[in-house]
Amino acid sequence: MTTLRIPLSAPDISEQDIAAVTAVLRTPQLSLGPQLAAFETEFAAYIGTQHAVAVNSGTSGLQLCLRAIGVQPGDEVLVPSYTFIAAANVIRHERALPVFVDVDAKTLNMQPELAAAAVTKKTRAMMIVHTFGRPAALDRLMAIAADRRLRVIEDACEAIGADFKGRRVGSFGDAGIFAFYPNKQITTGEGGMIVTNDLAIARRVRSLRNQGRTDSGDWLDHAEPGFNYRLSEMNCALGRSQLRRIEEILEQRAQVAAWYDDYLRDEPQVIVPELRIPDGRVSWFVYVVRLADQFGRAERDAVVQRMRAHGIACGRYFPPIHQQPAYRGWALRHPLPVTESVGERCVALPFFNGLSQSQVHEVCACLLEALTMTAPGG
Ligand SMILES: Cc1ncc(COP(=O)(O)O)c(C=O)c1O
Repeated sequence: MTTLRIPLSAPDISEQDIAAVTAVLRTPQLSLGPQLAAFETEFAAYIGTQHAVAVNSGTSGLQLCLRAIGVQPGDEVLVPSYTFIAAANVIRHERALPVFVDVDAKTLNMQPELAAAAVTKKTRAMMIVHTFGRPAALDRLMAIAADRRLRVIEDACEAIGADFKGRRVGSFGDAGIFAFYPNKQITTGEGGMIVTNDLAIARRVRSLRNQGRTDSGDWLDHAEPGFNYRLSEMNCALGRSQLRRIEEILEQRAQVAAWYDDYLRDEPQVIVPELRIPDGRVSWFVYVVRLADQFGRAERDAVVQRMRAHGIACGRYFPPIHQQPAYRGWALRHPLPVTESVGERCVALPFFNGLSQSQVHEVCACLLEALTMTAPGG
């Protein structure tokens, strides 16, 4: 594999982060200890919820929440197809049915009116994804959910620190889930966090992540078949240390996004994401541009290859879920024209805390050159 000079993402690990993890290794308690309890308390305080329950990935958090809100086999769950595949996979793992809803071309989040139109008698829940850290239209989506008596899970895996009308995303639904893979705003290596204001949900997911154990205190008392989705003390120590820097990290990422915007916003060949939103704050997860309509999938892929040849990593965020081999033959209930069009044209550019202005400039210059060399329709 070619070594790329500018990677797509890179974790930001400080000396304090390293010290926090090694300190845990000098203790006898490597799981279910004080770091876990403190990480959960501090995370709940940051999001503004009463409870937080750490798990070993965003995916396992989503799965536990579906179960905790009572999604049953055969139930339908509304979800976008323009997102990471885990969102739909967990619905299938619970033997429920993902019903894909198209997204808005500007925000790339689920369109509320299409979500409302997709509700049937079998619809049990809505999974609201805050794609790329941009808050979804929570007021309209939550109103639809209330009106149609749907449970709501917020997939905030890409959106730590984003807010909507002054409130952090993840705190609106029955439960919210965050993820800490190394490409995320903060990382624990692998890891996730469930947040909720519902004590019953918190208790259930806390038990399910730990083999369905009861809170009797007896290690061998199991109330129901659960999982091992625990997060180790080392991961939690890293998460706490990273969380202390969250505001600085989010500002740094907003600065990188602003540099990209400066270079690209007047280029007719690319459509850039909106830098600021009127009713909230974006938590920049990735910087994804869309090529103009004259470019298609072949040109997009050629651009990505040209940039790689120059040592610059780019991603195809996101190939729509329903077009993945894992979903081959999946019957769509509703057409997804925006998802399909955007999915062909999007390019994620390198994006991480330490990316410098000159690197951003280099990426943009390379992108524009690659676009010039890539004849539309060719
Ligand atoms: C929208 C979304 N949902 C779920 C996940 C799953 O998180 P994890 O990789 O921690 O399982 C991700 C991770 O990239 C994500 O972006």
